[in-house]
Amino acid sequence: MPSGVDLVIFGASGDLSRRKILPSLRHLAARNGTGLRVIGAGRSSPSQQEFRDLVNASSGSSELASTAEWVQLNYKDPASFAPVKSLIDGGGTAIFYLATPPETFSDILGAVGHSGMATKGDPSRRIVVEKPLGHDLASARKLNLQLAASFDEEQIFRIDHYLAKDTVQNVLALRFSNSLFEPVWNRNLVETILITAAEEEGIGTRAGYYDHIGAVRDMIQNHVLQLLALVTMEPPTTFDADYIRRAKRAALRAMSPLDPSLAVRGQYEGYLDEKGVSPESTRETYAAARVSIENWRWDGVPIFVRSGKALKRRATEIVIKLRDAPMLRIGGRRQRGIPTLIVIRIQPDEGITLRIGAKRPGVRFEMVPAGMRLDYARLTRTALPDAYENVLSEVLAGGHSAFPGGEEIELSWEIVDSLLKAWESEGHPEPYQVGSWGPQAADDLVAKGGGGRWIISGDEPGTA
Ligand code: BG6
Repeated sequence: MPSGVDLVIFGASGDLSRRKILPSLRHLAARNGTGLRVIGAGRSSPSQQEFRDLVNASSGSSELASTAEWVQLNYKDPASFAPVKSLIDGGGTAIFYLATPPETFSDILGAVGHSGMATKGDPSRRIVVEKPLGHDLASARKLNLQLAASFDEEQIFRIDHYLAKDTVQNVLALRFSNSLFEPVWNRNLVETILITAAEEEGIGTRAGYYDHIGAVRDMIQNHVLQLLALVTMEPPTTFDADYIRRAKRAALRAMSPLDPSLAVRGQYEGYLDEKGVSPESTRETYAAARVSIENWRWDGVPIFVRSGKALKRRATEIVIKLRDAPMLRIGGRRQRGIPTLIVIRIQPDEGITLRIGAKRPGVRFEMVPAGMRLDYARLTRTALPDAYENVLSEVLAGGHSAFPGGEEIELSWEIVDSLLKAWESEGHPEPYQVGSWGPQAADDLVAKGGGGRWIISGDEPGTA
């Protein structure tokens, strides 16, 4: 970490800052000595001491708390940013972190740019932005232009916290550091790819955000498409951020816009009774879609993704299902083989399972599904780092591999935009029961589309 770093958190007294950003600083600050100072900035008016108490309570670091500063801002008034500038003037690195609602981005970026706090091309000035990075393709383009007015791409860090999850980074290790997988990783042997990002919790107290956003904007456009890009991209020349981004861009570019007739929109029963949700809301809390990738590697392979709230349990998984063995004749009878599954468990129970067919021990020759399992936690004695800790440590180091580039964001909006437009004029989403795996229509989508059925480890023989 460079010495003397000011982390300016816009919206520092808000939920994201308390729950994610400040707690992740504790280990970073401890690891890197005292060079880190938090400057909280926002519309509210805590006293210096109140803000220091908040930093102490959220980060657990009295050292960070003792140097923290608070600046009250009126986002519409660039002059109110002057105290931030005085604090960061005098050298060192300044990182601007936008932990504020998206409608404030434009004012804050304008003020940061015009005040001279940010210099385009100066690597000691960095900007971190949180999703939602736009509401559709047009607004995402606008945001990219606003960012580019004051910062070069190298100075911009767009957070997709899934990319900072250790198990997501392990997807690259699995694919490209083992010669076993890559030869089968294509249309010749892969029958289908299924990605699930399921959450057990409903929307909780986030109606104000979620009822405008829904499952596609909240999870599919960003986290899920990033996972899919990592799973389907070509091998990067090197593991440097630039090459990984290039490979992901090519993968996203090959994905066709989602077809509304091959997508399912669901809403959990009771959503309309959640506090803050409009009683007529047609917002989807669940989305499933078929994705087509038009390139040599994946042409014709049915790929399905789904994400939702209030589902049976929390599970984010990528399942690669291989084609059946051509034939299996046992005792004069032709039998079905057991399809090989490669299951990458992003969370919980992080790890990888290879589900294969094995002979059931005993005198008869009989096949059973059997799992070979890697438990990721066993590879380390320490707890897996939190995604936000990974994110911030990379921002401090100036690395980009855990951040999507601006073009990737636009490409992913291109994939979901037409679906979102079509859904705007549709009626009510399909209801599904809390604690289920979502609407029946999503099962039909996979069955009719040649994917068989959704697979989730634990429920699938051989993957427990
Ligand atoms: C966020 C979404 O990006 O990711 C939330 O806005 C969602 O709605 C969360 O709950 C899921 O993240 P994780 O790390 O808990 O899987």
